[in-house]
Amino acid sequence: MRILAIESSCDETGAAIVEDGRTIQANIVASQASLHARYGGVVPEVASRQQLSALIPTLDLAFAEAGLGWGDIDAIAATYGPGLAGSLLIGLTAGKTLALARGLPFLGVNHLEAHIYANWLRPAGETIASANLDADPNMPDERPGDPQFPLLALVISGAHTELVHIPRHGRYELLGQTRDDAAGEAFDKVSRLLGLGYPGGPAIERAAATRDATRANPYKLPRAWMRGTHNFSFSGLKTAVLELVEGALDAQDGPGDGAAPRVTGRYRRVGEAALTAGAFSVPDLAAAFQDSVVDVLATKTTQAARELGVRQVLLAGGVAANLALRERLAGMLATDGIALRYPPIALCTDNAAMIGAAAYFHLRLGERSGLDLDVRPGLQLPFAVSTLP
Ligand code: KG4
Ligand code: ZN
Repeated sequence: MRILAIESSCDETGAAIVEDGRTIQANIVASQASLHARYGGVVPEVASRQQLSALIPTLDLAFAEAGLGWGDIDAIAATYGPGLAGSLLIGLTAGKTLALARGLPFLGVNHLEAHIYANWLRPAGETIASANLDADPNMPDERPGDPQFPLLALVISGAHTELVHIPRHGRYELLGQTRDDAAGEAFDKVSRLLGLGYPGGPAIERAAATRDATRANPYKLPRAWMRGTHNFSFSGLKTAVLELVEGALDAQDGPGDGAAPRVTGRYRRVGEAALTAGAFSVPDLAAAFQDSVVDVLATKTTQAARELGVRQVLLAGGVAANLALRERLAGMLATDGIALRYPPIALCTDNAAMIGAAAYFHLRLGERSGLDLDVRPGLQLPFAVSTLP
């Protein structure tokens, strides 16, 4: 089954053609990140306008890259949530319209589920043993090299931080989640604070890598363990960095005028001042922050994996691109013989190939969305069980 997939939930426009939920025949991503960088974050009005102008060229490029035409497509899928309403609307409307015009089945896809299913995608050119499915949709489609259920997934994106038990395709059991900021959000806010710009994750990772690792890091930042739960909290860490930066600037220049700055402006102002003042070491502080996030994510994920007795753990979402996290978590899990899987970096952040992967496992069971499907900006994973209070 060959699926044309569309992703437009935030500031990336994606079009992909994916076969059987695994083989990428084309995957085009048009990113607007540089456009939003000057504002220090995504501006929704700018994002939706860019989605509109980028979508058709991105679709054209996907067909050209795959060397395929409309006659080769069996179904169309598009993200319907979560994300920015205006951005979602562009891709979803395009997907439904093309499905209607071409007489093809259509499916709306949950963006968070798609991040998880990025783990089913294979490098271009890798051949996959075809399944003997006997045309029975109830027979699970499992092929050599696929992730093995039961799984534990750590979903870490710009707005989500969740530990999810997945006993089989389509069943999600929530073990824990962030009580305040998401992991990616913390990276983005601290990056702004350190004058490193947007998107924050890669910027912090790059800055941390430039520090002299033979010296002890002078900064030690707190960790919120949320003991007795599988929950997370990152807002205290972000505040600790803010106070440290402000303290260093005060020590250098004397206290400011005492006026309480508005919180949104505060991050950028402090960040700009920090960068020019050289009052502290940006690489050391970036590394201390990253260490703290990675330590908590890796330790709590390993704990949950042990409790559940799973043999494989998946990373999903933009923060899964972080190399320090991959290395630390893989090492901790290995002592228990548990394998860590993650998508290649380009498939961790938003893309349409992952939409095509998730769509396949629904479409093969006969699921379809109506053309009245609307965008759902606040969509969650469809949790069958939540162990949260
Ligand atoms: O999944 P994603 O591309 O978009 C959402 O669905 O939110 O995730 C974006 C988030 C941003 O917060 C970005 O800073 C973070 O993922 N991110 C990273 C890295 N690359 C992207 N965080 C840490 N390390 C990275 N290398
Ligand atoms: Zn995403």
